[in-house]
Amino acid sequence: MSLIRLAYASEATFKPQPAASGVEPHVARILLASRRNNPKYGIVGGLYYGNHHFFQYLEGEEDQVRELYGRIRRDERHRNITTLLEEPLDEVTFTDWSMKYVPQAEDVTRILKRHDMDQFRPELFDRAMCEEMISVIRESHHHDRLINHHAGVRGESGQVIAPGIRNGLILAAVVLVGALLVGGLLLL
Ligand SMILES: Cc1cc2nc3c(=O)[nH]c(=O)nc-3n(C[C@H](O)[C@H](O)[C@H](O)COP(=O)(O)O)c2cc1C
Repeated sequence: MSLIRLAYASEATFKPQPAASGVEPHVARILLASRRNNPKYGIVGGLYYGNHHFFQYLEGEEDQVRELYGRIRRDERHRNITTLLEEPLDEVTFTDWSMKYVPQAEDVTRILKRHDMDQFRPELFDRAMCEEMISVIRESHHHDRLINHHAGVRGESGQVIAPGIRNGLILAAVVLVGALLVGGLLLL
């Protein structure tokens, strides 16, 4: 058992499309595949897409991470792949996240400003910037509401039922119990 962490930068090759549900459709498809596959291989991490560039961070068993990275590198949806970090890791830090997605973050703009960068160009990130980027992704509370179809209705946040449906079911249960109580009292 040896864990590693890996971060890379790349440039998207697809023509950006209007994001129907808030997430660029190509990126949404990448996220769905990631959330379907990564749990099978014990891989966790995060993805940031901005300025037509990707920053991805992966953690997991060395063999699994390297194999996935090999597959990702062959993907024609991006090019100019630059490995930024690749090193041993003591324990995973993205618990519960097969692939966390942060679409746009003020914090990322702040990182860029701090390092005198006016555009998101992750291939130019040094180690410090990578670490800041990883922290921003890890600590973001954004939920992209993508459904992982292969995991039924379980979203990436681990919730089995969407909050709206869950609240509706709770309300229905309360109404039902109330009706039964009233019915019972009337029969007495
Ligand atoms: C920027 C980028 C990041 C990706 N990240 C992952 C990932 O974390 N996990 C994954 O399984 N596929 C990822 N992919 C997609 C893979 O390249 C590949 O299309 C996918 O693993 C194929 O899965 P499938 O055989 O289940 O369709 C990524 C692709 C790109 C362009």
